[in-house]
Amino acid sequence: MSNIVEVRQLAKQYNPPDGVMAVHDISFEIHSGEIFSLLGPNGAGKTTTLSMLSCLLAQTGGDAFVDGNSISEDVLKVKQAIGVVPQEIALYPTISARENLQFWGRMYGMGGQRLEQRLDICLEIAGLADRATDKIETYSGGMKRRLNIAVGLLHEPKVLLLDEPTVGIDPQSRRRILDTIKALNEHGMTVLYTTHYMEEAEELSDRIGIIDHGELIAIGTLAELTRRVGEHDNIRLQVEFNGADAADLTAQLAMCKGVSQVVAGDSTLLLQVEDADTALADIVVFVSQAGAHIRQLEIQEPNLEGVFLHLTGRALRD
Ligand SMILES: Nc1ncnc2c1ncn2[C@@H]1O[C@H](COP(=O)(O)OP(=O)(O)OP(=O)(O)O)[C@@H](O)[C@H]1O
Ligand SMILES: [Mg+2]
Repeated sequence: MSNIVEVRQLAKQYNPPDGVMAVHDISFEIHSGEIFSLLGPNGAGKTTTLSMLSCLLAQTGGDAFVDGNSISEDVLKVKQAIGVVPQEIALYPTISARENLQFWGRMYGMGGQRLEQRLDICLEIAGLADRATDKIETYSGGMKRRLNIAVGLLHEPKVLLLDEPTVGIDPQSRRRILDTIKALNEHGMTVLYTTHYMEEAEELSDRIGIIDHGELIAIGTLAELTRRVGEHDNIRLQVEFNGADAADLTAQLAMCKGVSQVVAGDSTLLLQVEDADTALADIVVFVSQAGAHIRQLEIQEPNLEGVFLHLTGRALRD
């Protein structure tokens, strides 16, 4: 399988020599035609990595190659090969979707017949053809995100980079965006997707890289990653602590037989156990004795949340 993206020891330190090491010497490949996700919590280094790959931010170490072109030496070729859908929305509110796309198309050096054709195609892909002449200020958050995807697709890139495109939008818009990405991929588009939602990474990805504190701590298919956790189950409890000390309870639960990890959130307890059936009774007793109330209990098959917990001792989400 050929690699369309190769990342080699890529690093970024903001404000050197003392600033944050946002990305530490990461290396990975993206195969041509796959959806590769970078999954990681806030501040993991996802946006920094994408910004370097799209030549918007200079790296402080290493290099990366897009379709054989170095991000340090062949900037124009890299920019031609990739489409970027950034986290922040960069659209002009007082003009229409079509006019916004025309503006961005010209920024890419496009014009004439080709630009008009691509405008129609991209508006269609984004599901915005019937709203193309409406001003952006009348758009919902989800529609703006879809228009952002259209902008990223305009110049027919080989690889599409998306930075958490579903954050802060309603479930229906999220569904549309995920389906659009899948359809693009089925038509041959290579996708680099970043997210902190494990469900999205699980649904979309051929392969996943888990990034935390600027380091790529695991990489593989979902099956390969979950295998690393072994036969463990996850138990997720929604709890009302009712004044019970979460830290004490966490420490007690960690001592229960068969429990390997416990993390408390504001209203959750996430446990990794050898076998949910045998561990559950003790867990429920400890939680109730501490005075906390269990509102919901879920036993999960090994999933990415479990992989993250296993590797870091922390929860991917609260
Ligand atoms: N311009 C900047 N100057 C200094 N530090 C920065 C800058 N941008 C990001 N950082 C820091 O670099 C680290 C990685 O940030 P980055 O934005 O890449 O993470 P992220 O994974 O995209 O997070 P999020 O999920 O919140 O978008 C964080 O510690 C962040 O505070
Ligand atoms: Mg980010």
